[in-house]
Amino acid sequence: MKKIRCAFFCQNCGHSSPKWLGKCPSCNGWNTFVEEEIRDTQPGTGRDAAYDSTPQPLDAIEAEDSERLSTGIAEMDRVLGGGLVAGSAVLVGGDPGIGKSTLLLQVLEKIAARGSRVLYVTGEESARQIRLRGKRVGAVSANLLVLVEIGLDNILRHIQEVHPAAVVVDSIQTVYSPVLSSAPGSVGQVREASERLILLSKKTGIPLFLIGHVTKDGSIAGPRVLEHMVDTVLYFEGDSNYAYRIIRSIKNRFGPTNEIGVFEMRDNGLAEVDNPSEVFLAERPVGAAGSAVVPSVEGTRPILVEIQALVSPTSFGMPRRTAIGVDQNRVSLLVAVLDKIGGIHLGNSDIFVNVTGGLRVVEPAVDLGIVSALASSFLDRPVEAGTVVFGEVGLTGEIRGIAQADVRIREAARMGFKRCILPKTRETRKRPRGDLEIHPVGHLRELFEHLF
Ligand code: TYD
Ligand code: MG
Repeated sequence: MKKIRCAFFCQNCGHSSPKWLGKCPSCNGWNTFVEEEIRDTQPGTGRDAAYDSTPQPLDAIEAEDSERLSTGIAEMDRVLGGGLVAGSAVLVGGDPGIGKSTLLLQVLEKIAARGSRVLYVTGEESARQIRLRGKRVGAVSANLLVLVEIGLDNILRHIQEVHPAAVVVDSIQTVYSPVLSSAPGSVGQVREASERLILLSKKTGIPLFLIGHVTKDGSIAGPRVLEHMVDTVLYFEGDSNYAYRIIRSIKNRFGPTNEIGVFEMRDNGLAEVDNPSEVFLAERPVGAAGSAVVPSVEGTRPILVEIQALVSPTSFGMPRRTAIGVDQNRVSLLVAVLDKIGGIHLGNSDIFVNVTGGLRVVEPAVDLGIVSALASSFLDRPVEAGTVVFGEVGLTGEIRGIAQADVRIREAARMGFKRCILPKTRETRKRPRGDLEIHPVGHLRELFEHLF
């Protein structure tokens, strides 16, 4: 009789250990180890038959960029880097209820409406629930097939039989293979299911979407290896209390990362937002202190975002520092720079920084916006009307250059802004731009001359 070998696996990162551990040495998670069977992957067991292929000259391989399949949703296409690549696997993660199932159902409907067959595999909801959601979002195509199934082998068989133009598996944590004794959603199961689904997608050229659940700390549940196995990782962000949803590419083998697509959740599904700058600036208070506008470039597209800051005297011993939408450490650093170099002493003040609209900005260009908003709130002087700022702030108070300055300036001009404060670099010193006044600054001290 074959002996079953077991080991303990961290459910968070996939680290294995022969005995149970309270704390994972790899990801530092507590109480994450669960006993699971070790899958037999010895050579000669027949498993590698699936990987069989021969070396071939690079120039003999056919690959056209035009082979990309458009999802029919421009925002989605951009995030994917120009459409779906044949045989690619896309992992879509996000909080429960944010709209993953809705978005992918809409994507499939768009593809189906053009006459291709598509398959939606779900282990989360019943066919009736999908039908009801489909009615809401206008997904009525006869080419859209729904399969309610959690058995991995059955799913693989159906994909091969139907040979759809695209497949969605909602969610990867519900797929179950009886080969392993562990429960659906465990590291072993998730790894096994995604491995075999991705393999099938590569062999047949069918693009595959995997929906992944997200743990409390915001990473996709299951082993980290899942993120390494797929070609593209998309995260659905946004506060479910707001109508706006942002889909961001964290990893993309076929396009730029950090590209974002903006959607609005309506009662008939997700609608694309063509002009996000307008949306994020819509309720901006004009002439109020503590607000600055930054042309931020996430991926390839500029979006104007409003940074708000509130500086108020601390009533307890410990000043509070709260940042929403920007990195908290970044804010602490900028507060220190302002204090030491800018002469703005914030040591005894509570500080709150927020990016409006539930947006999250990761690039350093936002530094100058945070500094401007903080200074404006502290001094109680509004930033001069019609001004945008961008630039990275260094520890000595120097303002550092930022990529894609031209794109940002153009977006600001398009949205009717009149002045732009930006880093003093070789290009920005050269020429004036259209009707936008350019104020290059090299140091924090110069910033204040132009800001108010
Ligand atoms: P869903 O796609 O089920 O989220 P996920 O798969 O990420 O868990 O989205 C569910 C939420 O979206 C739910 O709160 C209802 C809302 N919603 C709308 O506001 N409008 C719609 O047309 C649909 C289909 C859902
Ligand atoms: Mg869902």
